[in-house]
Amino acid sequence: MGFPVVGVVGGGQLARMMAPAAVTLGVRLRVLAADPGESAAQVVPDTVLGHHTDLDALRRFADGCDVVTFDHEHVPPAHLEALMADGVAVRPGPAALVHAQDKGVMRAALAAAGVPCPRWALVSTVAQLREFGAATGWPVVVKTTRGGYDGKGVRLVTVAEEAADWLARGPVTGHRLLAEERVPFTRELAALVARSPHGQAVAYPVVETVQVDGVCREVVAPARIADGHAVAAQRAALLIAGALDVTGVLAVELFDTPDGVLVNELAMRPHNCGHWSIEGAVTSQFENHLRAVLDLPLGSPAALASRVVMVNVLGGDHPEMFSAYRHVMARDPAAKVHMYGKAVRPGRKVGHVTVAGDDVDDLLERGRHAASYLRGDLLP
Ligand SMILES: Nc1ncnc2c1ncn2[C@@H]1O[C@H](COP(=O)(O)OP(=O)(O)O)[C@@H](O)[C@H]1O
Ligand SMILES: [Mg+2]
Repeated sequence: MGFPVVGVVGGGQLARMMAPAAVTLGVRLRVLAADPGESAAQVVPDTVLGHHTDLDALRRFADGCDVVTFDHEHVPPAHLEALMADGVAVRPGPAALVHAQDKGVMRAALAAAGVPCPRWALVSTVAQLREFGAATGWPVVVKTTRGGYDGKGVRLVTVAEEAADWLARGPVTGHRLLAEERVPFTRELAALVARSPHGQAVAYPVVETVQVDGVCREVVAPARIADGHAVAAQRAALLIAGALDVTGVLAVELFDTPDGVLVNELAMRPHNCGHWSIEGAVTSQFENHLRAVLDLPLGSPAALASRVVMVNVLGGDHPEMFSAYRHVMARDPAAKVHMYGKAVRPGRKVGHVTVAGDDVDDLLERGRHAASYLRGDLLP
């Protein structure tokens, strides 16, 4: 019937949340998952089993897809080049994606594009880190350039020796560490944009994100910041999307400071900071990601309420969440509960709750209550 097949590499919750948007548009979704129990594999009938580092599996999966996109950024660029050589449309392409795969490459590209960033340096020895800290002041934030997520791969060090173990791995991994000044931010922000191959882009309202121990806890849309800072964040995100030729959704994490915004890092896929858009915006980030990778006109990113709050449901000690639905749904019929079909493990993102309205404090109380109750924290 002419409707395209969009292939998504990775079977996590981001791929899962693309499914309702694909259903609505009549677009067919295919997922590459390593295990049939993965979040998206549970709900997408056309799931191909295989690993994203296995080029044969990627080829089997891509055969018959009109475009290939991602749930995560871990596919080796050489494999994506091989798919492109086969004639597969890969969006975002490997040349863009490398900036979300390697924080050192990302910092260099943002510096070249004139985007404001924290002071940074790539270091491979304790002496180089000591020199960086002497110039910027301690403590210093040290990051692995590749493979980190949810704060794994980020460390605050007060003396250079505290990073000695990571630096010692450098000769084995072939990667230096990224050192950054610790930014005394007032808030963390995220600017989400979607960009299509023909160059159209839309910018969502800038949001506030709250991380606890490196993991996103809650999001407030739009951010309670000066208009000038919100516009600067959106402009930075649009500039980055164009400069790096990103296709699909780009999430830009930023720090808000009294002197302006600084870019922290990039993700080139739908992102936790945009889950609020499912109910809270005219077009969700998942629908706009599909539209963008299919090179369709993009949907309006405008918010549908004056404030939208999203609170993540993180796993706690209580393995079962469905019995909490009765209380959560009875207490707050306007709260929207999302569950990802993932086994509960302490600290793991297993779902989220969205509430929309006018009063942020009320929305935060309701969202936090629902998330805590689902976690089992409030059980008698
Ligand atoms: N330069 C910095 N200054 C202050 N805090 C930082 C800095 N870099 C990272 N952080 C804190 O650590 C968190 C995780 O860092 P990030 O680079 O986003 O890693 P991840 O890839 O794990 O999300 C950030 O959300 C922020 O709270
Ligand atoms: Mg981050």
